[in-house]
Amino acid sequence: MREKLEEIRAEAERVIAKATDLNVLEEARVKFLGRKGMVTDVLRGLGQLSAELRPVIGQAANEIKTAISNALDERKTALESETSEQRAESDRVDLSLPGRRPRPGHLHLTPTVSNEICDIFRELGFQIATGPDVETEYYNFDSLNTPSDHPARDSHDTFFVKPGVVLRTHTSPVQMRVMEKTQPPVAVVVPGRVYRVDYDASHSPMFFQVEGLLVDKNVTFADLKGTLIAFVHRFFGSDVKLRFRPHFFPFTEPSAEVDISCTVCAGKGCRVCKNSGWLEILGCGMVHPEVFRYANYDYETYAGYAFGMGVERIAMLRHAISSISHLYENDLRFLEQF
Ligand code: DAH
Repeated sequence: MREKLEEIRAEAERVIAKATDLNVLEEARVKFLGRKGMVTDVLRGLGQLSAELRPVIGQAANEIKTAISNALDERKTALESETSEQRAESDRVDLSLPGRRPRPGHLHLTPTVSNEICDIFRELGFQIATGPDVETEYYNFDSLNTPSDHPARDSHDTFFVKPGVVLRTHTSPVQMRVMEKTQPPVAVVVPGRVYRVDYDASHSPMFFQVEGLLVDKNVTFADLKGTLIAFVHRFFGSDVKLRFRPHFFPFTEPSAEVDISCTVCAGKGCRVCKNSGWLEILGCGMVHPEVFRYANYDYETYAGYAFGMGVERIAMLRHAISSISHLYENDLRFLEQF
């Protein structure tokens, strides 16, 4: 019996010394000291021993049990500190390594061009104004002298949110929102999204416009021309020519569309300008007296001009981009060029 106990102790010491991780150690504990373990087995057999032998073997078995238990504890502590050292080693941070440089993004071409347009007008003394994308028919059409049966409404192909409420088809409604809140003099530019039921190479159902409005005493069409010429020369270059073509808008009278000499062929004629030498860039005119009436402005005292341009169109002309869809397909090979 004694010999057997010594064998168990020797084996336990060997196994414990060899254990390289905590799981193996736990297996050893179960094997020797567990409920069905080898030492427990011996202790359970004590009853069959003679009365003299019983206390002797019992004491020896308990000693071995304590010894194995201590050996397990010691090994456990050693293994635990080893693993924390290993962890410290693998987690070590090399402070001398260069950092990971974040890949900086940049603004999309459309807002970049919109900002550039607004900045030029800001230098000319205009302030920035904005209005809601979801707009009432009153602001989008009626107050801009466009009654419900007006033919100009057709060309706008409007998205209706519910009766009387639309996704604005242009930034012009913000003219009225500004005039309602301010007395002249007024000089604002309005960047923003607009929406039309329209989709092809040059049209997107959502696109951006920049609107302009200036109201004061003694404002003339010459002021409008001077401002737009200054803008075009700053944006496209001072060698670009402008042409004011008579046009119709319900909210301006007289109205005009502005063409610039083709930025690709300088007016000689090419595919981009369809051999005309000219590219249309915006609509403009003198604010209609009826619009002033809606704004409660005295049209005997004040005069004003307004203009509106499509941001994507201007970006496309400047960079010779063939289709507006390039601006909305999120192809980084395209977008990263700007
Ligand atoms: N709102 C017009 C459009 O979307 C553009 C425009 C034309 C704006 C003349 C104006 C203007 O302010 O005076 O087609």
